[in-house]
Amino acid sequence: MKQSSGSLEQRASRVLSPVLGHYTWLEVDRGEGSWLITRDGRRVLDLTCGIAVTPVGHAHPRVVAAIQTQAAKLAHICAGVAAYEPNVALAEALTAITPRGLDMVFFGNSGAEAVEASIKIARQTTGRESLIVFRGGFHGRTVGAASLTTSKSLYRKGYGALLPEVHVAPYPYPLDCPITPAHDAETCGQHSLAVIEQMLEHDVPAEQVAAILIEPVLGEGGYVAAPTSFLQGLRDLATRIGALLVFDEVQTGFGRTGAWFAAQRFGVTPDVMTLAKALGGGMPLGAVVAPRAIHERWKTSTHGSTFGGNPVSCASGLATLNVLKDEGLVERANLVGKIIVEELAPLRHDPRVREIRTTGAMAAIEFADKTASKAAIHGALERDVLLITCGSHDQVVRFIPALNISEDDLRGGVRGFVQAAQTDAVGAPA
Ligand SMILES: Cc1ncc(COP(=O)(O)O)c(C=O)c1O
Repeated sequence: MKQSSGSLEQRASRVLSPVLGHYTWLEVDRGEGSWLITRDGRRVLDLTCGIAVTPVGHAHPRVVAAIQTQAAKLAHICAGVAAYEPNVALAEALTAITPRGLDMVFFGNSGAEAVEASIKIARQTTGRESLIVFRGGFHGRTVGAASLTTSKSLYRKGYGALLPEVHVAPYPYPLDCPITPAHDAETCGQHSLAVIEQMLEHDVPAEQVAAILIEPVLGEGGYVAAPTSFLQGLRDLATRIGALLVFDEVQTGFGRTGAWFAAQRFGVTPDVMTLAKALGGGMPLGAVVAPRAIHERWKTSTHGSTFGGNPVSCASGLATLNVLKDEGLVERANLVGKIIVEELAPLRHDPRVREIRTTGAMAAIEFADKTASKAAIHGALERDVLLITCGSHDQVVRFIPALNISEDDLRGGVRGFVQAAQTDAVGAPA
């Protein structure tokens, strides 16, 4: 066999498609709690959780044990071929924490697949086709999910006509709101609701709308929470026109916002929720959750999956959910966010900073442009703190720590970022 030589980046450049963008080429050997250990022994604090996937940290002993035990018993059979305990047990555990009434689950493998499933369930059970989504939303990379995604036009580049009957409304993003006062989220939300009413008047008949689909907190689009009054307005609208309200909670789910789901934090119950990321506790897993009455109208065998609800993924997800519960981590998310905001305070009056905000442990600092945000995360990594950006032009740095990160690690990590932002304003790669 040919000897592998060079760095992982060099080897990857020969065999892995360059289509996948990379924040870093950090050569990670293993993870321990909130720390990543590189192949040459460097310890880096992970404030990304692999993009919001590992809420109890890396290699939590209970999650590792669950994965190992299940892998040794049964790694795969397909939920449509035979029944197995972890599949049903995770659905039972999940429906015990989802908003009231959302009591039935279909498992897939990823967030994009969960979103695809939500499009199918909405279209088939309402007999309608149109979908209302929000500018800045990110729902995944498959063709259906990409059709709903407007966080960056790059994600649609060169792919031709995507799904028809997708109508894009403004997300209440106060810093980008076209009306004044620009920073008033409530007013911005009322403006967005008024625009949707205009869309129903001019663009899409209300009786053709199958679903209104939204991230209650914008993830990839910039870590911006929709005001409660706006989400309640969407709830009322969906009920009035007979459409399903779908919350994409792929990034917000499992304690990240300080409640099990953002729906509960905001007190607004959707008809359908899409889940993934933290659901599998590090293993690939996605789900679409809705009331029995909706699932029962989704015709048997018109949707399915070979790997969806895989035994090892479900065992990992169940163990993760139990750790979140037993260690009180959902409640701790608010403290995590508070600590981040406290430590970011020295940047509050920096002229490059537009806003510091958090919803539970979804914390972010928005810069005027990506030069500042990229320089800051580059400098943070030099100080052994891993962070990633979001926002339509990567102008936002997001903090997604494990919910069980120690207070010292968290404060130290955010201080490293602040130091980097203050001193490395220029000179980093774009
Ligand atoms: C809100 C939201 N929906 C859907 C997705 C797609 O998930 P996946 O990458 O697992 O397909 C993401 C991924 O970032 C997301 O943040």
